Amino acid sequence: MSSKDSTNSTTSITGSMNPIDSMTVLVTGGCGFIGSHLVRLILRERPNWRVINVDKLTYAGNPENIPDVNNATKPSRYQFVQADIVDGQAINALFDSEKIEYVVNLAAETHVDRSLIDSAPFLRTNVEGTRVLLEAATHYGISRFLHVSTDEVYGSLGPTDPPFTEQSPLEPNSPYAASKAAADLLARAYHRSYGLPVLITRCGNNYGPYQFPEKFLPLFITNALDDQSLPLYGDGQNIRDWIHVEDHVRALLQVLEKGIPGEIYNTGAGEEHTNQRMAEWVLDILKKPRSLIQLVKDRPAHDRRYGLNVTKIQNKLGWRPSIPLGEGLGVTVSWYQDHRAWWERIKSGEYSNYYRQWYRDRLAIVPQ
Ligand code: NAD
Ligand code: DAU
Repeated sequence: MSSKDSTNSTTSITGSMNPIDSMTVLVTGGCGFIGSHLVRLILRERPNWRVINVDKLTYAGNPENIPDVNNATKPSRYQFVQADIVDGQAINALFDSEKIEYVVNLAAETHVDRSLIDSAPFLRTNVEGTRVLLEAATHYGISRFLHVSTDEVYGSLGPTDPPFTEQSPLEPNSPYAASKAAADLLARAYHRSYGLPVLITRCGNNYGPYQFPEKFLPLFITNALDDQSLPLYGDGQNIRDWIHVEDHVRALLQVLEKGIPGEIYNTGAGEEHTNQRMAEWVLDILKKPRSLIQLVKDRPAHDRRYGLNVTKIQNKLGWRPSIPLGEGLGVTVSWYQDHRAWWERIKSGEYSNYYRQWYRDRLAIVPQ
């Protein structure tokens, strides 16, 4: 692999960087849920860093997720580029015109249920898009490439199994999880084959503000706010390991700065709860009746339990989650109460077609 050479730029970049005090990080998927929190964290806590946010703005990408950044940050510190990570020309043009030192790859198709309807966009973005980024990073030469993977690559735990460690085998069960496992292994291979300084994180279920309301918690919170049924899959006893998104993005920053290239870091808060417990918790916070919960037809290949052993990131990097679930959930519910316009606009748009399609056979009453 060669170092930086010249390619014609097809993406127009505005704003300039100060070569003396800047270091430039490319964040992909920065208009999504986790990406928007990471962009905000970096701009707040790394005053000498410049962030380039590459996002295609799919249905899940929303510039309103970072209004404070768009409106208040000096353009020299933040640059938004609307581009598809699968578009090699646009990505190479970006690397060609900027001295990118760090890459954090969050851009992905992320909803398991949608991957069960059509896996094609998942393979395209999650696998081919990751390959394009890895190739560009190798070609142009960077200091660190953080690939954000997921605990879903491990598959499912039984009720008494010990939590997944970084050595657990990869046994993905949904097309989404399989596409993330492929990307995860490809990132590892670029480290082994070309010496690209790749770091990989595998995190559990995130919750917090700005999460697209197709996901379990924002869907259940917003449905409850509207006195609509909460569609709980199967017997409601599937378990997820919940982490506040702020804790996750702090872990990402820590791994990016201090992690050892070639290493994988599980990230989680050790908050394993059944979906039924989480649904009841939300209803109790909102003082809504538990009768809103409706057990519905299960998701195919529904992983029974996720749980993560996070000893490595704690011992090697000193990271620890700081937001207890009880506290984080209360604040999150309040956020959705206070930001009705944000989620109502989403739920009444393209999402309503998806909702009708997916929940038609599941819910007795689906809004027309
Ligand atoms: P999200 O769906 O909220 O956001 C994804 C973002 O990626 C959107 O802004 C979208 O526009 C952008 N995007 C999609 N395809 C693109 C493409 N081809 N080119 C450029 N941009 C594109 O996702 P999220 O929940 O914030 O997850 C971010 C990352 O973290 C994903 O890689 C996901 O697999 C991983 N992850 C998520 C969780 C979780 O609980 N949400 C947990 C562990 C890991
Ligand atoms: O574990 C990390 C993963 O967490 C991320 O990699 C994924 O991008 C993210 O979407 C999430 O995957 P899950 O499938 O666990 O999340 P989801 O919010 O779709 O569902 C959480 C649990 O709630 C799961 O057991 C399915 C259940 N569920 C979900 C929905 C949407 C329901 O019971 N009813 C629902 O309507």
